[in-house]
Amino acid sequence: MESVSQFYTEPTRLLITGAEGQIGRALVRIIQDDSHFRVTALTKRQLDITRREQLTEILASDLPDYVVNCAGFNRVDPSERNPERAYAVNAEGPRLLAELCGELSIPLLHLSSDYVFDGHYASGYTEADDAAPLGVYGNSKWEGEELIRQLLPRHIILRVSWIFSETGSNFLLKTLQQARKENCVLAADDRRGCPTSADDVARVLVAILKQLANGADAWGTYHYCGAEITTRYGFSEAILAAARQYEELKVSELMPVASKDLPNESVERPASSVLKCSKLLNTFGIRQRPWRIELQRLVRELYESGALKQADSRGMNPGDRDQVAEA
Ligand SMILES: NC(=O)c1ccc[n+]([C@@H]2O[C@H](COP(=O)([O-])OP(=O)(O)OC[C@H]3O[C@@H](n4cnc5c(N)ncnc54)[C@H](OP(=O)(O)O)[C@@H]3O)[C@@H](O)[C@H]2O)c1
Repeated sequence: MESVSQFYTEPTRLLITGAEGQIGRALVRIIQDDSHFRVTALTKRQLDITRREQLTEILASDLPDYVVNCAGFNRVDPSERNPERAYAVNAEGPRLLAELCGELSIPLLHLSSDYVFDGHYASGYTEADDAAPLGVYGNSKWEGEELIRQLLPRHIILRVSWIFSETGSNFLLKTLQQARKENCVLAADDRRGCPTSADDVARVLVAILKQLANGADAWGTYHYCGAEITTRYGFSEAILAAARQYEELKVSELMPVASKDLPNESVERPASSVLKCSKLLNTFGIRQRPWRIELQRLVRELYESGALKQADSRGMNPGDRDQVAEA
């Protein structure tokens, strides 16, 4: 009789960069108890993807089966003021990763953005549509993608949009913070897209990784976003409705405005960020999940964990709580 050990397969070894970001954290949380994987998750302090010598040393000693690059500089207005940083993290880092992964025959999974498009297609973008980024952030992400495509055939580039989670800087946390402190909240009603929870992106990455590890030969560029198109205004309405189940908010008016009238955004954003995701479904069988379900869950967790109250008492955004705890 064949012994059980003959059917035992080694776990897939992953190296995750940018492990403290929204998607990095979600991926580490979801994958760490999965026996299919053995994970090395490194924060920016532990591995700066723009530093060749660090990357060379870690890749050579860790020798992962796959690298998942969750590192990025995705602040749109600061990218215009500091293009060197945006290009270093979003283009030069991916170039180094692709080059060094290529030398060691390690495939790379990389995250990119709806901002590679100019947003003129209201009905949404497929992977075959031409990129036309509007600013430094989008350009730097596009350049990073192109470098990976040139240097490393065995890559997955997953473009995602409108990420929200319980940490970091994101629209959900900013809207909640404003709605709890101010009478009037402004939200753009001329920008369309699909909110996407960081946890859902992590689940998509895990599903792709499992199929690659089982021999799927499906390298290339894919789109994923949450199901149901909305506007920033529609997303804000849903956030406030979810929060009102737990407390009376200070906000009395949610005002729809044109993007150009938003006070804190000087850089033009794509009017349509809608990503069509049928290639991911047709290739890997991965379906979009409705973002509203994840929104309800996250808002409940934010209230039940007391994160919002703690952030209030420190005068912080709830997403900053981990950095505060560390300090
Ligand atoms: N957030 C969105 O709405 C959105 C939408 C579309 C696509 N994406 C893409 O998805 C990816 C992850 O996004 P996210 O929302 O998880 O971003 P995030 O929360 O800002 O996380 C990015 C992480 O990368 C780290 N990082 C920055 N520079 C680095 C470097 N040189 N080396 C290593 N790590 C570095 C950041 O550290 P510090 O914070 O300390 O700098 C942060 O922990 C990015 O590629 C982004 O472009 C995001």
